[in-house]
Amino acid sequence: MNLSNCATKLAISGYLVSVLLATFAAAALICLQFSGPSAGLPIPKLEHLIAHYHQSQLVASLKGSMYPYVADDDDIVIIENWINAGAADNDVFSQQVMPILEYDCQSCHSPNSTKTGAAPKLPLSNYADVTAFTTAGYSWHRLAKSAHIHLFGIALVILPLTLLVAQLKLHAKVKYSLIALAWSALWLDIVSWWLSKYSVIFVYSIIVAGTIELTLVSLMCFICLYSLWFCANKQDDNQTRSC
Ligand code: HEC
Repeated sequence: MNLSNCATKLAISGYLVSVLLATFAAAALICLQFSGPSAGLPIPKLEHLIAHYHQSQLVASLKGSMYPYVADDDDIVIIENWINAGAADNDVFSQQVMPILEYDCQSCHSPNSTKTGAAPKLPLSNYADVTAFTTAGYSWHRLAKSAHIHLFGIALVILPLTLLVAQLKLHAKVKYSLIALAWSALWLDIVSWWLSKYSVIFVYSIIVAGTIELTLVSLMCFICLYSLWFCANKQDDNQTRSC
């Protein structure tokens, strides 16, 4: 492909700017999702990341998106301890956990709820309903669902980007590092989603891999845009310049 052709440069630049915007949107989504309800800058909190990837969906929701409905922070501790102790259908469940869910959650999480913003299809009305959300981390079903979307989607972003980087006049070691790291970070991220179910260490590898992924994609976009417009070979007049 002739990268010095103006129409080609415009087409590729459109792609690169869109990827950059999508990367910023992804970073913003991560910040908002994991920052918690407190005011101020939405900086992701480690506790929320650990709850999301390593703990049950119920605890993750209590500490995250459903926190505004929690009447007392001690409610979270009671439910968390009950799940950590095996989430049995025992007295703790009937006398402590269920009353909390009835008071805090069932106005929306009941099959008969007609409240605006309710989730009648996600009832928390009995033991079976509740234990559907007490398994730690990603289930095979959830992993397969998220993994295939992310792998297909991100691979389609990384392939053109790394092919473009391969065309640039950069030091070979820089090119190999950018390309190898971009793919490895993607795989590490997805694999860690599932492994974090078993060990909290993999929550840290998700953070590292995710940060590398977002940084590298943005960096490659900037390098490609710069090279395209300021350093590309000028084939029209047979001049060649390298970056
Ligand atoms: C005002 C209504 C409302 C209240 C009150 C409410 N929820 Fe939710 N909840 C929802 C809705 C709507 C969804 C679906 C969100 C979605 O699909 O994005 C949801 C989803 C969930 C999920 C599924 C996973 C997730 O985070 O999306 C869990 C678990 C959950 N809620 C737990 C709770 C618990 C525990 C409480 C009580 C502390 C609670 N909810 C209170 C409306 C509510």
